[in-house]
Amino acid sequence: MDARAAIVTGASSGIGLAVARMLGEQGYAVTLAGRRPDKLDAAYEQLRGDGLDVQPIVADVGDEDDVVRCVAAHREAYGRLDVLVNNAGVGIGESIGELRTKALDIQLATNLRSIMLFYRESLAMLTAAAAEHRNALVVNTASIAGKQGQAWLSVYSATKSGVVGFTQAMNRELGGLGIKSTALCPGFVDTPMTDFVKERVPPEAMIQTSDVVASVRMLLALTPGCVIGEIIFERPAGDGSLG
Ligand SMILES: NC(=O)c1ccc[n+]([C@@H]2O[C@H](COP(=O)([O-])OP(=O)(O)OC[C@H]3O[C@@H](n4cnc5c(N)ncnc54)[C@H](OP(=O)(O)O)[C@@H]3O)[C@@H](O)[C@H]2O)c1
Repeated sequence: MDARAAIVTGASSGIGLAVARMLGEQGYAVTLAGRRPDKLDAAYEQLRGDGLDVQPIVADVGDEDDVVRCVAAHREAYGRLDVLVNNAGVGIGESIGELRTKALDIQLATNLRSIMLFYRESLAMLTAAAAEHRNALVVNTASIAGKQGQAWLSVYSATKSGVVGFTQAMNRELGGLGIKSTALCPGFVDTPMTDFVKERVPPEAMIQTSDVVASVRMLLALTPGCVIGEIIFERPAGDGSLG
């Protein structure tokens, strides 16, 4: 493969770390974006120690300046962008009557607004890559909660539903350029995000990060004439709910 490059947000943990590793192993140079420096550094050391070409960029994706800086740092280091994985996200459970405006704003900014900003900032590089191979890929980590709103996770559900809608719009707006977008919609995945529920739902009964990695690997293998706009991952009990 010719040199290719990717950005993965929320790359310091869980799904993002697993996808970043897979991309690195497939020969992509990968910018790892994450919020907490120590955690990001640990992920970076792990991947670099395994011989992968990665760079860590500490960035709060909810902050516009950080998004701009992150994409600029990627451009500076690698000069191209073939795959963008908008994966950073946060879920804050609370009832609508108790809704804290700060929690609302954090989820909107981290889960939804950031994705729009990353597209805007990355568009020139994605367009250039797509002109080369018509297979630029943007993967947006939504959630099954974006397909079926969840009680006490209403704001989270709304942001993820927004991610699904925005992904559809991007396919209509950018598909002709050769830039494909996919929304991933998993139920419970065994990552630190689901630690709160592991007494009730054992980790081994959850979707694994390897399942999500397998889906992204499949997306990378598609020919230019095929786009998969959305992938829903359910647990076999299968009523579509998170639990
Ligand atoms: N696990 C599930 O069951 C599940 C199901 C459906 C969808 N998802 C989605 O999958 C994505 C990844 O979650 P995960 O399960 O892998 O959880 P995770 O292990 O907690 O990872 C979340 C990642 O996002 C980063 N992050 C959070 N806020 C950020 C911000 N403002 N700026 C930059 N990075 C930020 C975290 O870094 P810091 O720790 O430093 O903040 C971490 O690297 C999220 O979008 C989540 O909503 C998860």
